[in-house]
Amino acid sequence: SAQKDYRLWLQYDKITNLQVTQEYKMGIKGIVSLGNSETSTISLRELESGLTNMLGNKIEIKSKIEGENNLIIGSQSSLSSDIQKNILSDFKRINNEGFIIKSISLKNKKQIVITGKNDVGVLYGVYNFLRLLQTNKSISNLNVIDSPKINLRVLNHWDNLDRTVERGYAGFSLWNWQKLPDFIDQRYIDYARANASVGINGTVLTNVNANALILTPQYLEKVEALANVFRPYGIKVYLTARFSAPIEIGGLKTADPKDAAVANWWKEKAKEIYKRIPDFGGFLVKANSEGQPGPQNYGRDHVDGANMLADAVAPFGGVIMWRAFVYSEHDANDRAKQAYAEFQPYDGKFKANVIVQVKNGAIDFQPREPFHPLFGAMPKTPIMMEFQVTQEYLGFSTHLVYLPKLFQEVLESDTYQKGKGSTVAKVVDGSLTNTKLTGIAGVSNIGNDLNWTGHPFAQANWYGFGRLAWNPYLDAEVIADEWLRCTFSNNKNFINPIKNMMIKSREAVINYMTPLGLHHIMDTGHHYGPGPWVSDLSRPEWNPTYYHKADKNGIGFDRSKTGTNATAQYATQVEKIFDNLETCPEQDLLWFHHVSWDYKLKNGQTLWSGMALKYQEGVNQVQEMQNSWNKAEKYIDAERFKEVQMLLQIQYKEAKWWRDACLLYFQQYSGKELPVGVEKPT
Ligand code: GCU
Repeated sequence: SAQKDYRLWLQYDKITNLQVTQEYKMGIKGIVSLGNSETSTISLRELESGLTNMLGNKIEIKSKIEGENNLIIGSQSSLSSDIQKNILSDFKRINNEGFIIKSISLKNKKQIVITGKNDVGVLYGVYNFLRLLQTNKSISNLNVIDSPKINLRVLNHWDNLDRTVERGYAGFSLWNWQKLPDFIDQRYIDYARANASVGINGTVLTNVNANALILTPQYLEKVEALANVFRPYGIKVYLTARFSAPIEIGGLKTADPKDAAVANWWKEKAKEIYKRIPDFGGFLVKANSEGQPGPQNYGRDHVDGANMLADAVAPFGGVIMWRAFVYSEHDANDRAKQAYAEFQPYDGKFKANVIVQVKNGAIDFQPREPFHPLFGAMPKTPIMMEFQVTQEYLGFSTHLVYLPKLFQEVLESDTYQKGKGSTVAKVVDGSLTNTKLTGIAGVSNIGNDLNWTGHPFAQANWYGFGRLAWNPYLDAEVIADEWLRCTFSNNKNFINPIKNMMIKSREAVINYMTPLGLHHIMDTGHHYGPGPWVSDLSRPEWNPTYYHKADKNGIGFDRSKTGTNATAQYATQVEKIFDNLETCPEQDLLWFHHVSWDYKLKNGQTLWSGMALKYQEGVNQVQEMQNSWNKAEKYIDAERFKEVQMLLQIQYKEAKWWRDACLLYFQQYSGKELPVGVEKPT
């Protein structure tokens, strides 16, 4: 039912495996909660309802430890010394947000302890414990010790104050500004709960294309109400700061960051915000990008702008997340080079509480991009990752695409900035350069649709983003396995083929949209469906033709030495690989090279035939996804089955649309027949 859709991965369905149920019933006789904060009440209620639903009987809540097989939950300081003795050394292995789940023997009686340094850590432990049950793992000898590897694990909501969501495909914004602050929608609580269950600890409520009104007292009162809801779940609130706010809502004549009145205005604004929200996270800023105002309007640079805001929030422990997503039509020779060219020279110049937010690739959230050259290239500057969870360029919420595959590919990429093994993950978790302030952002795919994300499988992208934000070394396949079990069923006959379908889905979308390194050929503006022919937009670098550069000789963007030399922005080892046609991975071929239609691919096919066959492969893969899904009917509820079935049918239709549109268009240039095996357009 719609209820199931709404409950995300927190279904807590009654466990059907009798043996497993038996083990859990024997192993959990009662719960003893030692805390007395709002957060510990949430932990207790979550365990109580989760266990009751999964085991089918009520679990006794005890006021003190009696008998054996109790779940004892509480932070380090609430534990009695005889319990602490059992786990003292484990506390050294966790950070402030980490947790310990451990089977211990107390006065010769077996107990399970869930603890952490504070109550939010305990809450994370509780969700982790419940997940063990959701995935039918044994709890007989527990020893789970885990901490998040990244400090700031935030969702970026591109939500406008009128509740439209930029690039949002799941309804309108969750934030009902008109009814806030007095009306607290249950959804705010459920949202916080879902985030906490995967370890997300921050939310930027507003669009990067910012509206200064959010910083007025009328709105801050509403933001405060949301912050109060999220706080016990360990979630901090952040806002986007429109750089020209001092003019728009402050009555100043300028927003020049070097103007004393401007700096002072932001200081006062920060004070005002922190008075309401003492744990306010800070600001996310898009400046001098795509028409947004910024320090350059006043002849200043990004460092001036970021540091001025950093000074305003520093006394309160706030951070500035300053975006490196910049490109200008005045330097349109290669958009991919601009962020690096502009930001790399600033390395070491930002204040300590500034973190530069970099998109995973140098263009804009394409189905596949090589990793952004800024990763690892600013060793003296905290750099945070920005992924897009909403599927702007990947079929909105109609196409099933499992994004943790994409995220993992980027995180595993080797930047070589400190020699072999300098992966993007090590840049993002700070271990490569010993950076203390670390972060990862996901542009949210959440809206007020009943099922939160539009496509039932887009829930997996929210979930997977959270899991990778906690630990960027996790495997996407393991995450898919967890998510399927928590969301649908533990039945192997369901899990295995459907997991397979999810894993395959990412390559499928690349194949039918942008194979072999093609990019940004989506139809213009909305970015849905093919538009490789579009060439009449006012800014050159918005036109798909700018990116594929197809002509009679071939196709692709030459970013090698013979072209724009964007490859030189990477470490030498990486530069060499990308620069050379022979060593450039074929998946990135047309990203870095303009290649003739007759160029021989590794499998012996010509580029034209190989490309055409990739488009066909994408279509075939969607058909295989449909076949897998059709066999899943007997394992899950009819409603979600049907929804996904209909969506896959649309995806199949549109995969063919992509194939036919792109091949017919590119064929004008290649002048060649479609190879055997590619269906003729109908
Ligand atoms: C993309 C997207 C915009 C968004 C921008 C950004 O260009 O299409 O809607 O504002 O990214 O990340 O700032």
